Amino acid sequence: MKQDIQFVRRDELKTKPDPNSLGFGKYYSDYMFSMDYNVENGWHDPKIVPYEPFMMEPAAMVFHYGQAIFEGLKAYKTGDGTIQLFRPEKNMKRLNDSCDRLCIPQIDEGFLLEAIKQLVIVEKDWIPQGEGTSLYIRPFIFSTEPYLGVRPSHQYKLLVILSPSGAYYGDQLSPVKIYVEEQYVRAVLGGVGHVKTAGNYAASMKAQEIAEENGYAQILWLDAKENKYVEEVGSMNIFFKINGELVTPQLNGSILPGVTRDSVIQLLQYWNVPVRETRVSIEEIFAAHERGELEEVFGAGTAAVISPVGELTWNGHSIVINDKQIGEVSQRLYDAITGIQLGSLEDPFGWTLKI
Ligand code: COI
Repeated sequence: MKQDIQFVRRDELKTKPDPNSLGFGKYYSDYMFSMDYNVENGWHDPKIVPYEPFMMEPAAMVFHYGQAIFEGLKAYKTGDGTIQLFRPEKNMKRLNDSCDRLCIPQIDEGFLLEAIKQLVIVEKDWIPQGEGTSLYIRPFIFSTEPYLGVRPSHQYKLLVILSPSGAYYGDQLSPVKIYVEEQYVRAVLGGVGHVKTAGNYAASMKAQEIAEENGYAQILWLDAKENKYVEEVGSMNIFFKINGELVTPQLNGSILPGVTRDSVIQLLQYWNVPVRETRVSIEEIFAAHERGELEEVFGAGTAAVISPVGELTWNGHSIVINDKQIGEVSQRLYDAITGIQLGSLEDPFGWTLKI
């Protein structure tokens, strides 16, 4: 499917926000990409249109049965003004994996990437250039057919919106307090935890709310079956540095295969720092701390990049990690990934796509 992308111009452009106080996901650019699906025409009517509210049927299936998926990636402006994306083909592939799991028709990955490139070029003045900022790209698909029977929808909408953003947490790299969740679970084997469905995030909010009420920044999620093995932290993958070796939970069908997770693993291998994907229990983590071997803990995700953990609480017992300071590997990874993304460091992996 190769279709021309129609461009519908808006009358007036918006005022851009102050690049020093962007926060995360609060502002939206002038335009968005839109494409629709129905059984007769497949994915059709691709267009770049003004970002604005649109009409939906109250019976649209997404409101009732939740067929909704999304992706998150970022565009950066380098020192010489080049615009680049970071490993976007991985997001396109994962979007189709999410489509597959929720019975949403597959998209043409190459075409969507081309559409995102065109949208970002149109909106290049929305790419912020301050420290830790980028243009966050949010592609998402949801079911639109008005129907109340339970089955996959016959109609969908795909949108891509853009949000100039700063650090996900207020202070980019300051270590956070984490709480090991034992009552609620994020995902189950055979469920949807390995793909990016809106429902995963809806299901995580109760535990997150309780954690915040108790003074914690995020949840550390354990496996749903034995409540024993570490899965993710907040909406990120997690890494532990134990006695010089980096350990991360192996992908098991309920953990999201993060793009930043994969980039961290590849960077560590490139640096000859030992890294292992394995099943890791929370008991082992606390035992490593007892032995004085737990050196660093950090989350890895698109929004925050690297988020160090300074304190971990499990079963009423709290441990402090690396004196609540940013660890050496956490800092090195953050500098390397953001340096490659911003074009200030060489990209030996071919991760950046210049547009
Ligand atoms: C990420 O950092 O990769 C995320 O998925 C966070 C996003 C839901 C805001």
